[in-house]
Amino acid sequence: MGKIVIAIDGYSGCGKSSTAKAVAKELGYTYIDSGAMYRAATLHFLNNYLTATNPKDIQKGLKDLEISFQLNPDTGQQDTYLNGLNVEQEIRSMRVSERVSDFAKVKEIREELVAQQQRLGKEKGVVMDGRDIGSVVFPDAELKVFMTADLDTRAFRRQKELFERGEIVDLEDIKANLGERDRIDSSRKESPLLKVEDAVEVDTSNLSFAEQVAQIVGLAKQRI
Ligand code: C5P
Repeated sequence: MGKIVIAIDGYSGCGKSSTAKAVAKELGYTYIDSGAMYRAATLHFLNNYLTATNPKDIQKGLKDLEISFQLNPDTGQQDTYLNGLNVEQEIRSMRVSERVSDFAKVKEIREELVAQQQRLGKEKGVVMDGRDIGSVVFPDAELKVFMTADLDTRAFRRQKELFERGEIVDLEDIKANLGERDRIDSSRKESPLLKVEDAVEVDTSNLSFAEQVAQIVGLAKQRI
């Protein structure tokens, strides 16, 4: 089977990561969570007491930022590492969710992470999800998907996910966070979230998980 690049973009919390992961598994591809990279970078800056996105401080902080992924043998999933430490749980917390879109707006951070993402996808055979994968990271991707779902569905799914990780969060707070991230991500100057012309839109509001995975695997197979 040939190898292609699959770019999955879309709003916050519409199931991009879990879907992309399952699509990658089915095709024997590598899954790369670009959002985890923005989250890890945000955690790095917050841990270094950087709360404002001053470009000079950001440049300094980028010098000792190292993000990598390692397979967790217990879960069979790739965990995110920040400067050698496993931060997979911490980057999903509300503390990081509340600030990630502010840091993801910064040009210097985006340039650094986009370059890393392009290196990770050089050999093809990857499924990468994010906000600018089809538009900026891999504009030549053979398959571009734009995933959507209504806000209530997204908030409910995210609440369940946080609960399973031991964090109890009010549904209205999650809705506010998802809505605010969508607003910042779509209106920012640097590579805003948008549906590129050649992307296939997949609305998952009324699809089961298996259905959304099958739909994307089907689209991929037409292109391999
Ligand atoms: O995908 P996830 O929701 O974990 O991403 C967290 C945040 O990282 C997004 O809300 C967005 O601000 C940023 N992001 C981005 N570009 C990407 C992936 C994520 O700006 N390619």
